[in-house]
Amino acid sequence: MARKTDIARYINVSVVGLSGVEKDKGHSGVGKSCLCNRFIRSHADDYNVDHISVLSQTDFSGRVVNNDHFLYWGEVIKKSEEGVDYHFSLIEQTEFIDDASFQSFKGGKMEPYVKRCAATKITSAEKLMYICKNQLGIEKEYEQKLLPEGKFNVDGFICLFDVSIVPSRSLEKQIEIVSNILNNLLKTKKPIVFITTKNDDADPGYLREADKLIQRKEFKGVLPLVETSAHENVNVDLAFMVLAQMVDKCKFRTKIIPYVEAARIR
Ligand code: GTP
Ligand code: MG
Repeated sequence: MARKTDIARYINVSVVGLSGVEKDKGHSGVGKSCLCNRFIRSHADDYNVDHISVLSQTDFSGRVVNNDHFLYWGEVIKKSEEGVDYHFSLIEQTEFIDDASFQSFKGGKMEPYVKRCAATKITSAEKLMYICKNQLGIEKEYEQKLLPEGKFNVDGFICLFDVSIVPSRSLEKQIEIVSNILNNLLKTKKPIVFITTKNDDADPGYLREADKLIQRKEFKGVLPLVETSAHENVNVDLAFMVLAQMVDKCKFRTKIIPYVEAARIR
């Protein structure tokens, strides 16, 4: 019989959080792309802080975005403390904005983001892995990796909450949208990890609100909270490992370390 550590585990993760036009999102995003970048390509030289969301029509219909509102970030293997190799595949659910009209691009039948991001069966034929912003338009000069079989079945979600203050985004709006997202994710019955982003620039009031949100009766006890910073590379792998162990129904659970402590021992 194969030992537990001999079996490779494949985990498909969907990263979600407040997205959309500037009216909702404010001047910048909550950190979905940076988190995915740090996790998939953790080497410091491969970490970009500037990712796409406002695009030309040509880039929206190019092979990377592929007329979808999600990005395929590719795959990475990470070893758990127990010695299990987890093969992670990642998508980011976002919303692409037309640089001519500053409205969302319209694809076929478009549900609002809070519903759409809870999708568990995703398809997109011939879609290419996203690497960085400069890749768009010159895809051939980069590695061309396809979304395997044009399909992605989500095993678990990482839901983001930005704890930094972003101009033109209200805290109340983020709480309202994230709680709607979480309610829709819970309906899928898939494991969810709730993470706070940008803890290197956290506002204490926002941290308290994030805590209050997961203490609500509908979320209490089902949402582990991991405090992360993609810029500082703190607790990013931990968040995905916690999710993998939930998907895998592992008895062994990696200890969740608060941001301040994790940043110190890094
Ligand atoms: P959309 O896809 O456009 O909705 O945005 P997003 O959620 O993908 O956000 P993205 O990762 O593009 O980051 C938005 C902004 O937040 C960028 O200016 C990043 O530099 C900043 N940011 C992302 N992660 C961190 C972090 O860990 N710390 C700090 N201080 N800033 C961050
Ligand atoms: Mg993004």
